[in-house]
Amino acid sequence: MNILEIIAKKRDGKELSKDEIQYFIDEYIKDNVTDYQAAALVMAIYINGMNEREITDLTLAMAYSGDVLDLSSLGNVVDKHSTGGVGDKITLILMPIIASLGIPSAKMSGRGLGFTGGTIDKLESIPGYNTQINVETFIENVKNVGISIMGQTLNLAPADKKLYALRDTISCTESIPLIASSIMSKKIAAGANKIVLDITCGSGAFMKNKEDAKKLADIMTKIGELSGRKTVCIITDMNQPVGNCVGNTLEVIEAVDILKSKYMPKDIEHIITELGANMLVLANKASNIEDGKSKILENIANGKAYEKLLQLIQSQGGDISYIENTSKFEKAKYIIEIRAKKSGIITSLDAYKVGNLSNYLGAGRLKKTDSINPRVGFVFNKKVGDTVTQGEVLGYVHADEQEKADFILEQDLFEIN
Ligand code: URA
Repeated sequence: MNILEIIAKKRDGKELSKDEIQYFIDEYIKDNVTDYQAAALVMAIYINGMNEREITDLTLAMAYSGDVLDLSSLGNVVDKHSTGGVGDKITLILMPIIASLGIPSAKMSGRGLGFTGGTIDKLESIPGYNTQINVETFIENVKNVGISIMGQTLNLAPADKKLYALRDTISCTESIPLIASSIMSKKIAAGANKIVLDITCGSGAFMKNKEDAKKLADIMTKIGELSGRKTVCIITDMNQPVGNCVGNTLEVIEAVDILKSKYMPKDIEHIITELGANMLVLANKASNIEDGKSKILENIANGKAYEKLLQLIQSQGGDISYIENTSKFEKAKYIIEIRAKKSGIITSLDAYKVGNLSNYLGAGRLKKTDSINPRVGFVFNKKVGDTVTQGEVLGYVHADEQEKADFILEQDLFEIN
């Protein structure tokens, strides 16, 4: 067996055997397969797809490419994962709520991918927060404060870590086999026995339409079953950004404001109650979905979820004075109003466009080695369905370079009809 034959087989639209998939993953991890060979195979998978059996084999090969955590000492761990989106700060809000309701919250998250943001980049915008703790500290924190959120360690699904970073730089993110195997390999390796998946769907998601979202949901549920993990998938809308803020620090501030009960965007309320209620039911902490939804909202209102967020940040070395007083976060140099070009109803605020422009401002990466700018992004006051008058402020661009802000103001981010 050699990698050239495997690439050629997938290039020609043929099915790969379990051994060929295992060979690719084993040799890529050992650097015997180069990044350019892996890129060729990934592109061939992107174009020609994989059947259910191949996806399951790829998932398991990646899951067992490193350590597989045993979290049984923590009890009934329920994990959540999103297929990614623009303005998606749901983990920052939901995991403290879940932990405050007595479910051990042990979560490994990712960085930004393509035009979407990542929880780890957002958490790293909090001064001092350490996303690279070791697994022993991760488990200790969950035992002590009920919650820990860390980056994928070197040893956990290292094949996914390498492939994820590679896909980000070769335009191979929006692919059902690659997304399903990436997420499920991490979930299997991270040790959760019950999993709730947020399958985002729309312009700002990797799945652009309901059919693809459903296909992805079905394959991930199947992989969950095959690996003995009860998996529930919820399909959520991602045609416009989630909530009102996009950009790393800006999204942390929005999550904190929500947990402080300062405000609650309708779409975020819908997502956290749907996902959260399913997590509570799976953990036997709610009798049904309605009961679960009210428990989620109750623990925001009574401040318990906010307290949990503070404990999470403190236990990972973060400076909680920034959370207690979010005006301490460093701001972008230029904060410029976006005004309505005409009166009418907003019919679109394209999440894909916003995600790409947010990367252009510096919030995401173009190369594996790029660093991100935590300050930049967008704050929106108005979203789809709102009636606006010409000249009204619809939101703000947060930029560190005047030319970039000017370029963005020339774009028609909002469609008004
Ligand atoms: N999230 C992941 O972890 N992997 C993907 O491929 C997409 C979203």
